[in-house]
Amino acid sequence: MSIDYNERIPNNVNLSDNRRLQRALESWQPRYIDWWRELGPDGYQEAEVYLRTAISVESGGWAHFDHVTMPDYRWGIFLAPPEKNRRIAFGDHRNDEAWQEVPGEYRSTLRRLIVTQGDTEPASVEQQRLLGKTCPSLYDLRNLFQVNVEEGRHLWAMVYLLDAYFGRDGRAEAEEMLERHSGDPDKPRILGAFNEKTPDWLSFFMFTYFTDRDGKYQLASLAESAFDPLSRSCRFMLTEEAHHMFVGETGVGRVVKRACEIMREHGLDDPERVRDYGGIDLLTIQRYINFHYSVSADLFGSEQSTNAATFYTTGLKGRFQETKIDDDHCLADASYSVPTWDDGKRHHMNAPALTVLNERLRDDYRQDCQRGLDRWNKIIAEHEIDITLILPDTAFHRAIGIFAGAHFSPVGEPVDKATWQARQNEWLPSEVDHAYVGSLMHPVNEPNQMAGWLVPPSRGINGMPVEYEYVRFA
Ligand SMILES: [Fe+2]
Ligand SMILES: [Fe+2]
Repeated sequence: MSIDYNERIPNNVNLSDNRRLQRALESWQPRYIDWWRELGPDGYQEAEVYLRTAISVESGGWAHFDHVTMPDYRWGIFLAPPEKNRRIAFGDHRNDEAWQEVPGEYRSTLRRLIVTQGDTEPASVEQQRLLGKTCPSLYDLRNLFQVNVEEGRHLWAMVYLLDAYFGRDGRAEAEEMLERHSGDPDKPRILGAFNEKTPDWLSFFMFTYFTDRDGKYQLASLAESAFDPLSRSCRFMLTEEAHHMFVGETGVGRVVKRACEIMREHGLDDPERVRDYGGIDLLTIQRYINFHYSVSADLFGSEQSTNAATFYTTGLKGRFQETKIDDDHCLADASYSVPTWDDGKRHHMNAPALTVLNERLRDDYRQDCQRGLDRWNKIIAEHEIDITLILPDTAFHRAIGIFAGAHFSPVGEPVDKATWQARQNEWLPSEVDHAYVGSLMHPVNEPNQMAGWLVPPSRGINGMPVEYEYVRFA
């Protein structure tokens, strides 16, 4: 597949043959660019950034690397190649041919699903807009901007679906996507975690590890959708999402490693003393994990959900790796174990699997999160330090679902309100933690330099050295 570089909107959806769609997207594009200039990365619009651009969807050849200024980035529309004779894998329409158009009866539900996903993409760009000013290195600055432009492209992917398949309503939704803003008191983004601040780089690494991973699980279940254009859009988005989670996992790992090095170098037993040497101590890292894991876990919704059951039976949203699961794909008689919280006691019960699909997806997500923790713990063990980072218990600091409103320690013991208030600063990042981490955030803009609170990455981007000039300032 070759892409005409003279086209305004690179794509593999034959945009030039569809004048109506082309007009809709071309009228949305200037508004998107205005939004990008206003609420995208603050202060770096003229910088030349070594970015990866999607130019086709062929495996092995879709990415093109070059220095470009971000407003000139070629945001395009790419769907994974169609799967021949694709059949619906689950729900009431199982074994039917996948839909190339939206069935009338599912129109508004499907639109809502697409809008909810689409809304998160520009939200994260807004949340991260100030981070460039305190980048720990040019390598990291480039990665931040790569994540940002790809989240922008993910918005394009959802706007394409809205414009191409949902007529006037879809166009109105595409406009509103640029009108809601992260943290805006009047017009906030749809989901809670996307209205939180990303105030420092440790938060950014945690966000890309935990919250982008929620994105992976949402996209993977939408990739199973009976609505084929949505499935194909999400499949291609997943290839980009992998890099975002890589930035998070390696970012946190580099901060962990620096903390460990400082402890060894200075023979420290008290982890908090890492701060005396300009590092971020492992206890603070644990509190950041507690916060970002719990707010990301909320994104999966309530344990019991009739909406999730409806999405499944109607074929709109599947389970993670639906086609690889060995069962009836209708969940007619299946059950699934979920936590319960009654009268101050925690138990488990078997619920009809169809009614607890959110919890199942959250469980899949949790297992995936643990892999990074294992790798970070390996770094700690290699330094012969006796500390283990943990994922907080599923009940900890939840605002959605059965545990919302109750208080639990990070290991899941119920605690009363007074205990919670007294110990909150041990369990979640405190104002002091934020102030300390914030005090480390100074821009490092020279190609061969790295901030002192993290170690350099083990390799650069696209075979380039770590010291490469990934960003050139105008
Ligand atoms: Fe995304
Ligand atoms: Fe992402």
